[in-house]
Parts: sequence; structure tokens; C-alpha cells
Amino acid sequence: MNSNDTTITPAPDNAPSTASRGVDLHVHRPHPARMYDYLLGGKDNFPADRTAADTAISVFPQLETAARENRAFMTRAARHLAAKAGIRQFLDVGTGFPTTPNLHETVQTIAPDARVVYTDNDPLVLVHARALLTSTPAGRTAYLDADLRDVETILTAPELHDTLDLTRPVALSLVAVLHFLSEQDDPYGLVRRLLDPLPAGSHLLLSHITADVNPAVETAARVYRQEGVAVYTRTYEQIAGFFDGLELVDPGLVSVHRWRPDPTTTTQDTTADRDETAKVDHKADSTIEAD
Ligand SMILES: C[S@@+](CC[C@H](N)C(=O)[O-])C[C@H]1O[C@@H](n2cnc3c(N)ncnc32)[C@H](O)[C@@H]1O
Repeated sequence: MNSNDTTITPAPDNAPSTASRGVDLHVHRPHPARMYDYLLGGKDNFPADRTAADTAISVFPQLETAARENRAFMTRAARHLAAKAGIRQFLDVGTGFPTTPNLHETVQTIAPDARVVYTDNDPLVLVHARALLTSTPAGRTAYLDADLRDVETILTAPELHDTLDLTRPVALSLVAVLHFLSEQDDPYGLVRRLLDPLPAGSHLLLSHITADVNPAVETAARVYRQEGVAVYTRTYEQIAGFFDGLELVDPGLVSVHRWRPDPTTTTQDTTADRDETAKVDHKADSTIEAD
């Protein structure tokens, strides 16, 4: 461990049973979840995270707006899934630090009996996970410390099966996480394997960065990589590939701020819109067709 780094040990009742002890915070290195927290205006970040994020912002000034719009998209899409599609079960992979409203808070406002399994591979997210375990009495939440690339661990985890009934529809949420996977990780195969056991009526909800509209997104992604955070843009067509064989819910694959925008909160600035489209994630949500 770097002597400059800091460790924290969660209190016994401060995290799920899988909690790592003595987590190395690596405060002098930029960290993706903390950089995202900084972009969202959060407090769980350190100077190295802020410096790296500010460097990315210097080449792509709409980055903070993009992060906020991504989070707002997730909230609108989850609300849609609970209120309009009747979804009561969510598997959220790449959860990130708790950020109000968290997914379960959004969907349990509509359906108090909704159940959410959160998953992230980051030990720092695990340390903060207690804030995700605040389910309504009628519903349930669980946190699973697992890597998206280890589908077997996710699909066989007791946390998953004790919380969700995989014979009933599930929304698989992969919001702003797939761009951390390289082609060598086989992201398409991983998504397919996660969807395979889900029954008809299930949904896929995802967002992903693209440089299709604004090449500055690629420049920002390069800054992330130079800072040691592996992140990859994909084209619209490549992102659409995650939905192969699925039926897209209207309006389909679009920039996050264009997916059923809320006129009271979604950015209305057309210049920002255009810039944001460039950098921002494409997202969509889709129904799995019955075989
Ligand atoms: C940009 S944050 C997105 C958080 C949240 N989904 C949102 O959109 O607000 C990306 C999260 O994905 C997690 N992540 C990255 N690679 C992952 C992997 N291979 N397995 C699981 N989680 C991963 C990171 O730790 C981070 O918390």
C-alpha cells in the first residue's frame, strides 16, 4: 500500500456482511466513483479526483451536466419501469456511491414493495453501501460486492436469490458502467448472459458514453485513461448492439436528456443540449421478448 494512502475500516454494523475490512482509499489517485461523485456535486471525493475531473472538464466542458443528466435519466427510466411497466424487481450493476434519490428510493415511492439488488466491484462503494439498505418495510434491498465481468458470481449470489424472484420480470440496470469494459471483456456476451435467466417482460436499462456527436467526449475519455481510469467510448451502432433481439421502448436509443425529458428539470438550453448529446450517454430501455 502506498504510504500516502488512507485506510478505513467499516464498523461491524456499517456495511453488508461481505464488507471488506481495511479498505485502501488510494486518496492520491483519481478514482472513477469519486470522480463521478464530484461531477454530481457530492462530497465523497479527494483533491486527486477533483483535479482529474477538472482536467476532463477542461477538454469537455459539459461533463458535469452530462453526469447530472445521466443520473436524472436513470431516475426517470426507473420511474417509468415501476409506474408504467409494472416492474417490481431491479438488478442494478455498477451502482456507484449512494446519491439521492437512489434507485430503490425512486421505485419504492411508486411501489413500496419493490426490491433492488445493488452491485458494484468497488470496495469504496461497498463501504458506503449502508445508505442503499434503507428499504421500505414492504420492499427489500441488498448489496452484492461483485464484478460485472464475473456474471457467474452475480447470478449465483445468495443476495440475488434471497431478494429477487427470477421467475418474475426484472429490470437489469447497467447505467454508465459498460464503458468501463473493453472489448476484451466481451461486454456484449456479459449483458446477454445477465439477461438470459430473466423471464419475458423483463427490461434492460442502460446508458453509455459516445463521441458520435461531440469528438471532445473521446478527448475526455483519453484524459480518464491517462489518469489511470480505463473508459471507452462506443458508437451509436455499437451501443445499439446491446439491445439486439430486444424491443425498444419509445423513444428508443437516444441521448439521455432526450429520453422522456422532464420539462421542469431536464436541460432546456439547446446549445447545452447539442453539446451534451455529444458527450452524453446514449440510453434506452427495452422489453425482452418471449421466445
Ligand atoms: C459512473 S458510475 C455510475 C453509477 C450509477 N450507475 C449512475 O449512473 O449514477 C460507474 C460505477 O460502475 C462501477 N463499475 C465499473 N466497472 C465495474 C465492473 N467491472 N463491475 C462492477 N461495477 C463496475 C464503478 O465502481 C462505479 O461505481
